Amino acid sequence: MQKERLQQAVPRLLAWYRIHKRDLPWRHDRTPYTALVAELMLQQTRVEAVKERYVAFLARFPSARALAGASEEEVLKLWEGLGYYSRARNLHRAAKIIAEHGFPTTFAGVRALPGVGDYTAGAVCSIALGLPVPAVDGNVLRVLSRLYADDSNVDDGAVRARYAALLGEVYPPETADFCEALMELGAIVCVPNGPPMCGACPWAGLCKAHLGGAEARFPVRAKKSARRIVHATVCVLRCGGRYALEKRPAKGLLAGLWQFPLFEGEAPAFGEALAEKHAKHVFTHVEWHMTGRLVETESELAPYVWVTARELRETYALPSAFRAFTEWVT
Ligand code: ADE
Repeated sequence: MQKERLQQAVPRLLAWYRIHKRDLPWRHDRTPYTALVAELMLQQTRVEAVKERYVAFLARFPSARALAGASEEEVLKLWEGLGYYSRARNLHRAAKIIAEHGFPTTFAGVRALPGVGDYTAGAVCSIALGLPVPAVDGNVLRVLSRLYADDSNVDDGAVRARYAALLGEVYPPETADFCEALMELGAIVCVPNGPPMCGACPWAGLCKAHLGGAEARFPVRAKKSARRIVHATVCVLRCGGRYALEKRPAKGLLAGLWQFPLFEGEAPAFGEALAEKHAKHVFTHVEWHMTGRLVETESELAPYVWVTARELRETYALPSAFRAFTEWVT
């Protein structure tokens, strides 16, 4: 891939970004710590879903020191609904390191923080430390594969590495704007679902895919393997004004988070169902097809933890997978 095409693309992208960038909460009053929080939240969660949660998280934990001093339960509660909860645990561990040693000042230092991979380290270095380190996410892969009409498989790590090296060669001094502009182009013009808005693209005159009328052919991706389907029964057990919760195992999907008693396949008969509904939740590799049942029990059965509706709302982190059933908790 020739560097010249991207060299021409850089100033056009920066000029476009300065006019069209979205006003997003993490683009104000940025520190290395706030950039780290934002990039970790944004890794696998949509911008619209992150906005409010980012503001709430920073209101409670404005600094790495504040976060370092919190309990894991509280951190998970503030992460509730964002998914991929290991990010929250890693961020909590990272905050303890930062509170003790200060924020790292090199790529290697940032990359060594828990939960930080090449992408997040690149983004934090570019956005908050002024270091010219590329951050190659799905958006960036899409815009570059189209710019070059490159039919390599973008799910291949070697292809990512090639794009990162190419970006490294043209990185401008405005490292923060350049990093976010690439993602922004992918998010609002060269969009992930549906046809790109080439009429609004600063690269329309440079983009090989567009010039060839072949935008839809790129990026080329590996075929996704099918998700495993798990059938489960979710029992919302109520006794008086309290509801039963159990903690998920420490390892695996939604590790250590709270749930209504859940059984793969059928559940024991706790009693007559007062209500029943079906819900589905899609994870990366698994789909849960759930039957939810509301049952009034005569006693607070072991081994569950019994909590009020208010405690559930305020203290216990309940993953979004169970949101379909919280209407029964009143
Ligand atoms: N996605 C990942 N990082 C982002 C950022 N800084 N702004 C907008 N979307 C993003």
